[in-house]
Amino acid sequence: MFNKHIYSQRRQRLKETVNNGIILLLGNEESSMNYKDNLYPFRQDSTFLYFFGIDRPSVTAIIDIENNSEILFGDNLTTEQMVWTGFREPLESVAEKTGVTRVKRRNEMEAVLKNAQAQSRPVHFLPPYRPEQANTLGALLNTGLDALQNMASVSLIKAIVEQRSIKSGEEIEEITKAVNTTVRMQLAAITMAREGMTEAEVAGNIHSIAIAEGGNLSFPSILTINGQILHIGYSQAKLRNGDLVLCDCGAETAMRYAGDLTRTFPVSGSFTSMQNEIYDIVLEAHQAAVSMLKTGIWYRDVHLFACEKLTEGLKQLGLMKGDVKEAVDQGAHALFFPCGLGHMLGLDTHDMENLGEKYVGYNDEVVQSTQFGLKSLRLGRALEEGFVITVEPGLYFNAQLMEEWAAAKKCHDFINYEKLGLYKNAGGIRIEEDFLITKSGSLLLGNPLPKKAREIETLRVA
Ligand code: GLY
Ligand code: MN
Repeated sequence: MFNKHIYSQRRQRLKETVNNGIILLLGNEESSMNYKDNLYPFRQDSTFLYFFGIDRPSVTAIIDIENNSEILFGDNLTTEQMVWTGFREPLESVAEKTGVTRVKRRNEMEAVLKNAQAQSRPVHFLPPYRPEQANTLGALLNTGLDALQNMASVSLIKAIVEQRSIKSGEEIEEITKAVNTTVRMQLAAITMAREGMTEAEVAGNIHSIAIAEGGNLSFPSILTINGQILHIGYSQAKLRNGDLVLCDCGAETAMRYAGDLTRTFPVSGSFTSMQNEIYDIVLEAHQAAVSMLKTGIWYRDVHLFACEKLTEGLKQLGLMKGDVKEAVDQGAHALFFPCGLGHMLGLDTHDMENLGEKYVGYNDEVVQSTQFGLKSLRLGRALEEGFVITVEPGLYFNAQLMEEWAAAKKCHDFINYEKLGLYKNAGGIRIEEDFLITKSGSLLLGNPLPKKAREIETLRVA
C-alpha cells in the first residue's frame, strides 16, 4: 500500500468534487470457477484500490460527504475459516493503514443506506461490471438489476475519471515497475521461441516471470502465430519457420499497476522480405505517432495520423490507392487496422474502461465515432500532463474480413482487391509501447526494448 495520507487525500478530493450525498464503493468478491471453493485468482476492483488500497475480498466502503465520514464494512474471518486461509489481519487494523477510523460489519451497511435514502440523500455508485456487484447493489438499494446501469452516478464517474487519469509520481513508479517486468517477459518470449514449440509453452514461461516478480498478468497474454486476430490469446499451435509470433503481454505489480507491450518476431530468426516491408510500415506509423505526443493534442488526431502513415505504406505495397486523407476519412485503412491506436494505462490495462469509454476516453468536445475501426479507439480526447497511454499501431491481414470486403467491393476506390490474395496468410504485426505525457512531450516508460526489425533478429540469434 501507499502511505495512508495518499488515500486520505484522494478521498478528500473525491468528496469535494462530488459535493453531496453518500458514495458507495464496492470492493470485489471472490469468484468461483467450477465449484464454490475453487476460486479465480482474486482481483480487487481498481477504483476501490485507488481510494483505499485494500487488496482483499468482501470489503465495501461508504463515504458520507456532508458528515465527512468514511466507513469500511467487512467481516473478519473466524479461526475455523483461517484453518483454510491462514491468518487474516482484522479489518480494523487494515483500515488504520488507509486512514479510516470507522469499521462496521457487513450486515450494518443496509441500515446506513436506508437511512440516507429515507432522507432523500443521493447515493452515488458506479456501474456494476460483475454479477456479484449487480446483486449486491440491487439488494442494498432495493432496485431491479436492469435499472442499475442507468442509475449509476455520472458525477461520481466523472470525478473518479478526473482523478485517476492523472498519474502521480508514486503511480508512475509502479507502472514503470510493471513495464520493466513486461520488458523481461518480452525478452524471454523473443529469445526462447523456437520452431516446434507451442504458443502455450512460450506463454506459460512469460506468465511465470510475472508471478515470480511479485504480481501477475495484467491481462491474459496474446501470444500467437495468428496475430491478425486482435485478442486471440494462445493455443497448442506449434510455431513453424515462416510464422510470425505476435506477443502482446503485460505484468501487473503487487500493487496492481499494469504494463502492456507488444512485439512481433519471426520464428525462423529472420523476417521474410514481405514481413519486413509490413513491419517497417508499422514501425514508421509508431514513430510518427510517438513524435506527436504532447499535452493538448487530441489522441484521435494522433490515431488518424498513424492511420495515414499506415495507408501511405500500404499504397507503396500496392494494396491501397487514391488520396490518403480521403481513404482514412472513409475508413478504408480499417480493413488492415480495424482497432484503435491505444488506451490509457494504470490500475487497469484498459484503464477505467468499466466506468465507460465515453467518460474515460471522450468528452463533450471529442465524441466517439461509430465508423468501423475508429469506433474501437478507446481514447480520443486531448492528452494531458500525467496521462499514461499506450501507442500500438498494427497491420492485420484477416482473410475473413478481406473476403467480406472484397465481395461487397467496400471502399473499392482505395483498395486494390486483386492484390489481397498475396497477403491472405500475412498474419498480423503490432508494436506497442507505454508513454507518460509530460510538460514537454512524452516519456517512454520502462527500459527500452528493441523494436527495429534488425534488432529483433539480432535478439533471436543471440
Ligand atoms: N494489450 C491488449 C490491449 O491493449 O487490448
Ligand atoms: Mn494495449
